[in-house]
Amino acid sequence: MEALLEIDNIEVVYNKAVQVLRGLSLRVPHGAIVALLGSNGAGKSTTLKSVSGLLALENGEVTAGEIRFKGRSLKGVAPEKLVRGGLFHVMEGRRVFEDLTVEENLVAATYALSGRKNSLHDSYELVYDYFPRLRDRRKQLAGYLSGGEQQMLALGRALIAQPELIMLDEPSLGLAPQLVEEIFTIIARINREQGTAILLVEQNAAVSLAIASYGYIMENGKIVIDGPADRLATNEDVQEFYLGVGGKEGEVRSYRDIKHYKRRKRWLS
Ligand SMILES: Nc1ncnc2c1ncn2[C@@H]1O[C@H](COP(=O)(O)OP(=O)(O)OP(=O)(O)O)[C@@H](O)[C@H]1O
Ligand SMILES: [Mg+2]
Repeated sequence: MEALLEIDNIEVVYNKAVQVLRGLSLRVPHGAIVALLGSNGAGKSTTLKSVSGLLALENGEVTAGEIRFKGRSLKGVAPEKLVRGGLFHVMEGRRVFEDLTVEENLVAATYALSGRKNSLHDSYELVYDYFPRLRDRRKQLAGYLSGGEQQMLALGRALIAQPELIMLDEPSLGLAPQLVEEIFTIIARINREQGTAILLVEQNAAVSLAIASYGYIMENGKIVIDGPADRLATNEDVQEFYLGVGGKEGEVRSYRDIKHYKRRKRWLS
């Protein structure tokens, strides 16, 4: 069956010189949460930018392969058209307008949606229902929110568009573990209740695989392992390199150690 998002064998080059994606393929079925995992520089953000059309702003180009959303090629489609078409990209680093209040950030998010019929009042309420902290702080400048609250606001701005697919770039970045749990629980709820498909880019494999149904692990611009999330979570290599399980008994391994080790031992090569 046709998936909601289909990436087929794409290659991406920056500045007409540096090849970053090398034949990458992945699929996001309708209504699914799919995790795209990998370490720093693997090409995760580049993959999302290829889909949302933001690559062009960075002098990047898809030089081969095809990307289809709802069966249609995205080649040459302007980023703002995609939002109206049901695809929303939440970029790395929670981009919110720091000089605007929470509420004004949500209002600004509606400007890209001219012509949509859904009631705006209802969509603000929807955001506040999922993120009660944002309701409490709705008159506060976004710049003064905590990192976690800014991430919630970035997600809230996506919700306003009521997209069919949200692509999330590292929502856990820089957040305390408890807050990561809270946000991921809400992401899972949004998926379940709104039927929104999620392509979740993360370095935090454990929390991502816990809410995803399927996962891909990429390295060096291509997928090296993929499978159902529960199978990936119990895969020995994934455990060792991404979940910090294994190693000498009693040894506590930080993600940094794992990454360092991983540089020596590459996937499947
Ligand atoms: N605008 C750009 N111009 C040139 N090279 C770039 C550009 N953006 C990214 N790259 C390079 O492409 C590679 C992949 O970067 P990308 O940001 O996609 O990785 P990532 O998997 O998202 O990493 P991270 O986990 O650190 O966010 C890196 O080697 C990076 O240096
Ligand atoms: Mg990135």
